[in-house]
Amino acid sequence: MAKACVIALVSLAIYTSSSFNFAYATGAAESNKFKVVGHVYCDTCRVEFETKISQPISGAVVKLECRNRTDGALTFQSPEITTTQSGDYSIDVEGDFQDSDCDVTLVKSPRPDCSDLTEDWRKARVVITSLDGVSGDIRFANSLGFKKKEALPECKKVLTELGYYELQDELGQEVVS
Ligand SMILES: *[C@@H]1O[C@H](CO)[C@@H](O)[C@H](O)[C@H]1NC(C)=O
Repeated sequence: MAKACVIALVSLAIYTSSSFNFAYATGAAESNKFKVVGHVYCDTCRVEFETKISQPISGAVVKLECRNRTDGALTFQSPEITTTQSGDYSIDVEGDFQDSDCDVTLVKSPRPDCSDLTEDWRKARVVITSLDGVSGDIRFANSLGFKKKEALPECKKVLTELGYYELQDELGQEVVS
């Protein structure tokens, strides 16, 4: 009796998990639902990339917009999304945007000491289509940072370890200013 019961449970488990997988796979393919995920940090060294002393910003606001690549018309606009405790966000998108340029942009920072934007790097480009060979519904956006008003004193050490100053000498100011 106990044995029959175990067999019944196991087959029920197999049945439910395979029907779940089936529903999940077809659902994702047919409805073009995506999740765009990313991270917002405080650029504590004002260098426009993440370092080990960058800090996640919780409560930062971002949004996603897609524009027709040919005429620039808006093809998708998400509501404003707020980052979690760990500075992460997830934006639901429905549709296929193969012919659009989609960007996540920073809207506002909850931290007055860390809210500086730089026009050309505050966007994170994401490709939102199932026709590019990327499987699954998650699309990762590059991290976006607000610059701290004043760099932390530890930055000098951290950036020296990264070879940042040598690079600055080699490439000139325009790359890193
Ligand atoms: C994008 O714009 C072009 C030119 O106006 C138009 O022909 C095309 O249908 C648009 N595509 C989408 C997806 O809206």
